[in-house]
Amino acid sequence: MDATSREAAMALRTRLQREGVPPAVVRAALDDVAADDRDAWLDLVCKLDEIPADDPRLPRGCVPYLPCPVATILDAMTQAALSADDVFVDVGAGMGRTVLMANLLTSATSVGLEIQPALVHAARERAARLNLTRVRFVEGDAVDSVRSVPDGTVFFLYCPFDAGRLQRVLDDLEDIARTHEIRLCCVDLPPIERPWLAPLPPVSVELAVYRSTRP
Ligand SMILES: C[S@@+](CC[C@H](N)C(=O)[O-])C[C@H]1O[C@@H](n2cnc3c(N)ncnc32)[C@H](O)[C@@H]1O
Repeated sequence: MDATSREAAMALRTRLQREGVPPAVVRAALDDVAADDRDAWLDLVCKLDEIPADDPRLPRGCVPYLPCPVATILDAMTQAALSADDVFVDVGAGMGRTVLMANLLTSATSVGLEIQPALVHAARERAARLNLTRVRFVEGDAVDSVRSVPDGTVFFLYCPFDAGRLQRVLDDLEDIARTHEIRLCCVDLPPIERPWLAPLPPVSVELAVYRSTRP
């Protein structure tokens, strides 16, 4: 990353720590950064360094932490038309990179569900440092905790676990979709076939976005 982008990231972090920064300002700052540098830039803004090692107790079928690329998150946010009125839920949130980015760029209430306690601790610390009050992290297996976000409107899944857990989460999302429309952003997952989910036209091979129809 060049010195200008590095300084811009540090300046934005300082400003976030002192006062709220409107999403349009964060977006303009991100747009100024070269595409190849955006991941490092976001990590610098949010201080997403010192990633804790994956917990050896991670249950079978649960995928270890790997942060989603900024470009993919941006595509998902655009295709799902994420706005300040949404409740964004990252199912398997890791250190919170996607949750923090969704909130910073839109002001949407953003929730991370994460099974690894050390990652939840690190994510909460980052959100607190940036004074992000509409961000929260729920520790535990998302199979149990997805029901704790019944007002969720945009659900994001970056390949968090195997098909067995995914089907159980989809069952709970179906219940949520009975109360209001939801969008589902899936990264690096096989196509999802549920009669109440309609795929939107794809914009990339790794990302699929669905909109719920009335179950
Ligand atoms: C591929 S990473 C995705 C990281 C994050 N979504 C992002 O966009 O940067 C998968 C994450 O899912 C978490 N995970 C795996 N199984 C889980 C489960 N059953 N419940 C909650 N989180 C889980 C892992 O600990 C890991 O942090």
